[in-house]
Amino acid sequence: MQGDSPIGVFDSGYGGLTILSEIRKKLPDYDFLYLGDNARAPYGNRSFDIVYEYTLEAVKLLFSRGCHLVILACNTASAKALRTIQQQDLPLLDPSKRVLGVIRPSTEEIGQLTKSKHVGVLATEGTVQSQSYVIELQKFGPEITVNQQSCPLWVPLIESNEHFSEAGKNIILKDVSSLLAKDPKIDTIILGCTHYPLIHEFLTSIVSPKIQIVSQGKIVANKLEQYLLNHPELSVRCTKNSSVHFLTTEDSKIFNENATRFLRNAVHAETIHF
Ligand code: DGL
Repeated sequence: MQGDSPIGVFDSGYGGLTILSEIRKKLPDYDFLYLGDNARAPYGNRSFDIVYEYTLEAVKLLFSRGCHLVILACNTASAKALRTIQQQDLPLLDPSKRVLGVIRPSTEEIGQLTKSKHVGVLATEGTVQSQSYVIELQKFGPEITVNQQSCPLWVPLIESNEHFSEAGKNIILKDVSSLLAKDPKIDTIILGCTHYPLIHEFLTSIVSPKIQIVSQGKIVANKLEQYLLNHPELSVRCTKNSSVHFLTTEDSKIFNENATRFLRNAVHAETIHF
């Protein structure tokens, strides 16, 4: 059953389910409300203004459903909308509520994982263009060299379950090779898009064993646990009945089918319209 104040988890589509799943393992008592804006995904190639507008709509909807804390489990939304929402909108909407992203927690960890101090980022066009990973990584480790590769076809490939077709694998290989050609000293690659954990194993199989591929789910889950411990005034407002409820802007039947691939559990979503 849905609680009165679940933790909201937002993604443009299915990718955030990879984050939700890790968060639920870490915080099994909490209630969660997932929202996928599947009808308008992908966000990756959209402008700053549009990603901000859509993300703000999603945050408002999750607030209206009782959430006091919303996680933008989407790198593109975190890169393009988070700061404006935190600084400009939240004080007007409800200063006691919180919206958190996935880029800062990931970069805090990555700096400690690389030995060569050469990091690669694979992400959507929007996240790459925003330079968010480069800026945040260099805050924690100014000595770190960061190279990025945008992978504009990966999300459409994964959403349509075509990522392991011959053509899909070739596209993935080509983008990874382009990243490594930019900097052969890369020893750590962060998957800066929540869809990419679905191809984590394949990526590991096509790079040297000396290169570690890092997905964000566990990192975000650990950081969220820590955040809630540090903010008891917020955690006490989040209800804890171990429930999860799914909202989508897409036909719920389509969402249920695809979400099951990401979560490996049956999903029963509710369709909503903004
Ligand atoms: N899952 C989103 C991310 O982490 C991107 C998907 C999209 O392009 O909508 O960036």
